[in-house]
Amino acid sequence: MSDNVRPESMARITTPELAEAFINEQIAALRAQIGGKRVLLALSGGVDSSVVAALLIRAVGKQLVCVHVNHGLLRKGEPEQVVRVFRDELGAELIYVDAVDRFLDALAGVDDPERKRKIIGKIFIDVFAEEAKKLDGVEFLGQGTIYPDILESGPVKSHHNVGGLPEELRFELVEPIKFLYKDEVRVVGKALGLPDGMVYRQPFPGPGLGVRCVGAITRDRLEAVRESDAILREEFANAGLEGKVWQYFTIVPDFKSTGITDGRRTYDWPVVIRAVNTVDAVTAEVAELDFKLVQKIVARITSEVKGVNRVLWDVTPKPSGTIEWE
Ligand code: XMP
Repeated sequence: MSDNVRPESMARITTPELAEAFINEQIAALRAQIGGKRVLLALSGGVDSSVVAALLIRAVGKQLVCVHVNHGLLRKGEPEQVVRVFRDELGAELIYVDAVDRFLDALAGVDDPERKRKIIGKIFIDVFAEEAKKLDGVEFLGQGTIYPDILESGPVKSHHNVGGLPEELRFELVEPIKFLYKDEVRVVGKALGLPDGMVYRQPFPGPGLGVRCVGAITRDRLEAVRESDAILREEFANAGLEGKVWQYFTIVPDFKSTGITDGRRTYDWPVVIRAVNTVDAVTAEVAELDFKLVQKIVARITSEVKGVNRVLWDVTPKPSGTIEWE
């Protein structure tokens, strides 16, 4: 148990200098732990796994093998960014797995939120384990565990743990940021030279856009989620709200309503906007958005996103609503 308690002597990492000291300590510790062996890491592109990848690249270079599984539920541009940053810029050994069809085929017709999560979690582990089996000399598994995960064992990262790890993945764990709080992970990420878009990224659930394409996922409605989310994020960035609003995204429920476009009657989906502020995600309040910004987002989504004729704004705090819709 004491292995999982943050040492009292550990200073809070708030400055680039403290981050540098932490990075140097970790590089030495990682080299001592790993020696000449190989380490495997599931790299989602989220802050935590990205910081672990960047630390491991500095510590053991090509002994690290990153696996990026594209499950088709990532945000627009994310898989490309992971490959660009880690393979092209940081020179990491990176296996990119396009598993989009496998995930979406397995999810077809499944509308129960917990079953959707279980399917996504299981296939993720299967795909990752299959890649691990193909590699020789791996003895370690990198993990982006952070201190709140240890303290709370909340919903976050639960998808990585569905049913425990299969034999192919039972390696010794490497968890260099397990004593860090989220704000410290960001300071370390910045010091490691990761792009701001990665370091200051809002939380994103493991099942990704899958829980925002409410009910049974279809490819066309999933595209409507992805495109509307990209527009929302772009407009929030233009309005200087990136990093200021805790979490913001769009949802596309599985129903249609009538509308009118260029004098022609339509029967299409609505897009729901959700933007919340919170400290710990246990309760949340609705972010007060400038109405002009909301109107601009409505205009863009209804004109640019295929199959959408309406935009709704969810102004429900948590409780009574959860942050996500599933
Ligand atoms: P809710 O919807 O329960 O969400 O108010 C609280 C926070 O948790 C995130 N979330 C998840 N994260 N796997 C994750 O990794 C999940 O299955 C999951 N479900 C919700 C959600 O985005 C919010 O930040």
